[in-house]
Amino acid sequence: MNNDLANTIRNKIDIVDVIGERLPLVKKGKNYWGVCPFHDDTNPSMSVSRDKQIYKCFSCGAAGNVFNFIMNYDHVDFRNALKYLGDKCGVDVSSVKVEKKSTKYDNLYEAYDLATKYYQNNLNSTMGKDAREYLKNRKLGEDVIKEFEIGLSLPNRDDLTKLLVGKKYSISTLNDIGLSSNEHDMYIDRIMFPLKDIYGHYVGFSGRIYKDSNTSKYVNTKESPIFKKSELLYHYEEAREEARNAHSIIVMEGFMDVIRASTIGVRNTVALMGTALTKEQIALIKRLSNNIILCLDGDDPGVNATLKNGELFLKEGVEVKVLPLPNPDDPDSFIMNNGKERFLSLLENAISFSDFKIDKLKENVNFNSVEEKSNYINNVLREVAKINDSVRREIELRNLAKEYDLSYNTLEKQLEKFSQNEKVVAINIPKDIKKKKRKDKYQKAIEQILYFMLNNDWVINEVEKAHLNYPSDKYRLLNAEIIYYYHNYGNINIADFYTYASNSEDVLSILNEILDDNYVDKVDKDELMDYFNVVKNYSLRKEIERLTSLIKKEYDPVEQAKIADRITKLRMGE
Ligand code: CTP
Ligand code: MN
Repeated sequence: MNNDLANTIRNKIDIVDVIGERLPLVKKGKNYWGVCPFHDDTNPSMSVSRDKQIYKCFSCGAAGNVFNFIMNYDHVDFRNALKYLGDKCGVDVSSVKVEKKSTKYDNLYEAYDLATKYYQNNLNSTMGKDAREYLKNRKLGEDVIKEFEIGLSLPNRDDLTKLLVGKKYSISTLNDIGLSSNEHDMYIDRIMFPLKDIYGHYVGFSGRIYKDSNTSKYVNTKESPIFKKSELLYHYEEAREEARNAHSIIVMEGFMDVIRASTIGVRNTVALMGTALTKEQIALIKRLSNNIILCLDGDDPGVNATLKNGELFLKEGVEVKVLPLPNPDDPDSFIMNNGKERFLSLLENAISFSDFKIDKLKENVNFNSVEEKSNYINNVLREVAKINDSVRREIELRNLAKEYDLSYNTLEKQLEKFSQNEKVVAINIPKDIKKKKRKDKYQKAIEQILYFMLNNDWVINEVEKAHLNYPSDKYRLLNAEIIYYYHNYGNINIADFYTYASNSEDVLSILNEILDDNYVDKVDKDELMDYFNVVKNYSLRKEIERLTSLIKKEYDPVEQAKIADRITKLRMGE
C-alpha cells in the first residue's frame, strides 16, 4: 500500500505541530496535553508525545499517529490525510489517487457531464445573451459562473436529447435520469445549476427562470438511481476541505446563498435546497465539522426551519450555532445589501441554538403582564434545563436574574424542577467510552513485552527466540503483526506501526488497549528476561491446571499415571 510513503511523510512532520494547530496544547513533563476533541470533556486528558509521535486520550481511549488524528479530526479517509500531510511537508503525493469510486453508474454520470458542458456552452453562445444579462444584474461575475458551472438550457425542445441519443444513450435512460421527458428535453429555457452527489459526480440540475414567467421558479431533477435529494447537499464535496480549514460548516437554504457567500470568500458552506433536513444529511454535515452553523433565511419560514432543524441536530447529539439574519433577508440578499464585513461580523457572533430559542421566546411577550412575564421566564428555564454544560447554565441563570431582578436561588430551584423532566441530551460523547478493565500481572507482563517490542528492535529478536506462549488471541495477533512488520520494514516504531495497524480493527484495538496503561519504554536484557519468566510461569501453571482437571476425568490408571508424570515434570521446570 502507501505505507512507505506514509512513513516518509510521518517522519517529516511533527505531530505536536499538527495537533497544536487544531487545539491548544500545554507541555507538562515529557509530553504535551490538551482537551481531547473526540469526546465531550473540559479536562486535558489527551497526551501528545513528541518522542513517540503518537497521541492518546486517557479518558476515551482515542489514540494513534498523526494520520489517525487527521482522519478522525478532519473526518477524512487515509488517502486524504496522506495527501493533506504530504502537501504540508513537501512530499510528492501525486501518486496517491483519491478515488472516485467507479460504479455501475459511470455511464449515467457521463451523461450528466455532457449535459453540464452543453449547458455551459449555451450560456456563452449568442442564444445566451438574455441569461447572461440576468446573471450580470444579479451580480454574478464570469468567475462565479465558471466556478459553479452555471449554464443555460435553450428554448428549443430537444437539442440535448438529440445530442445524447447521438452518443448512444437510449431515450428510456434519459427519461430515467431526468434529462429528457419523452422525446424532449426536460429543461426548457432556464438557467442551469448543476447538482453533484457527495463524491462530486454530476447527478442533477436545478433550472431557474430568468425572464418574467408564471411557471415555477425552479425545476429540479426528479429522484433517480443517481439523484437522491435526501442524501446530498449542494456544494458538499467542495465544502469538505473548506470546512476543515475554517473549522466550521455553514448550512444555508438555497444554492444562491452558497454561491453568493463564495463571492466574499466564505466557502465552508452547504445548502439544503428546499427540502426537509434528513437524518442522512445530518450525518453528512457532522462529518464535515463539529462546529455547525445554521444560517437560514431571516423570514418566518426560515426561523421556523431553524427551530426545527436545530432540534433535529440536537436529537443526533449536536448543539448547532445559529447565525440569525434580519427578516426578510437570506444570505444572498444580506451580503448583497450589507457587504462582506457585516456578514463576517455576524458569523463571528453566531449564537448557540439555545440562545436562539430563548431570543425567539421573548418576541411578542408583554412584559407589563405579570402572567406573560412569568410564563416567559419559565419557558426560558425549560430551555436552560436542556443545556448540557453547567457553566453555561449558570451564566444563563445569572443573566436572567439580573435582567428581571429575580433572586438567583429562586431561578435555580425552578430550574431543578424542570431539569428532572428533562433528560439532558448528551453532546458528542462517543458511544463506546471505554471502561478500563483490570489487568492481572500476567496480562501486564505480556503487554509490557509487546510495548517493548514496539520501542526496541532488539527485543523482537529475543521474543522470537523465547517462543513465548500467550494465553489469548489478541496478544498472539499483535505479537505476530509486530514481528511481521519488523521483518518487512527492517525497523519499528509505534507511530509507523500505527499506520500499518490501521488496516485492521483487531490489531488497532489491542494496540490501543496496551496504550491505555503507562508501560515503560526501554529495558535491559535482565529485566526483559524477568518479564519472559512471568509469562512462562503463567503458561506452565495453566498447563498444570489443565492436566490436573484431565486426571480427574481419566479412569484408566495407566493414563492417569502418564499425566501425573507430566505434571511432576512440569512442576520441576517451574
Ligand atoms: N426551491 C425549489 N423550488 C422552488 C423554490 C425553491 O426547489 N420553487 C429550492 C431551491 O433549491 C432553492 C431553495 O429551495 O435553492 C431555497 O429557495 P429560495 O429561498 O426561494 O431560493 P433563493 O435561494 O432565494 O433563490 P433566488 O434568490 O434565485 O430566488
Ligand atoms: Mn434569494
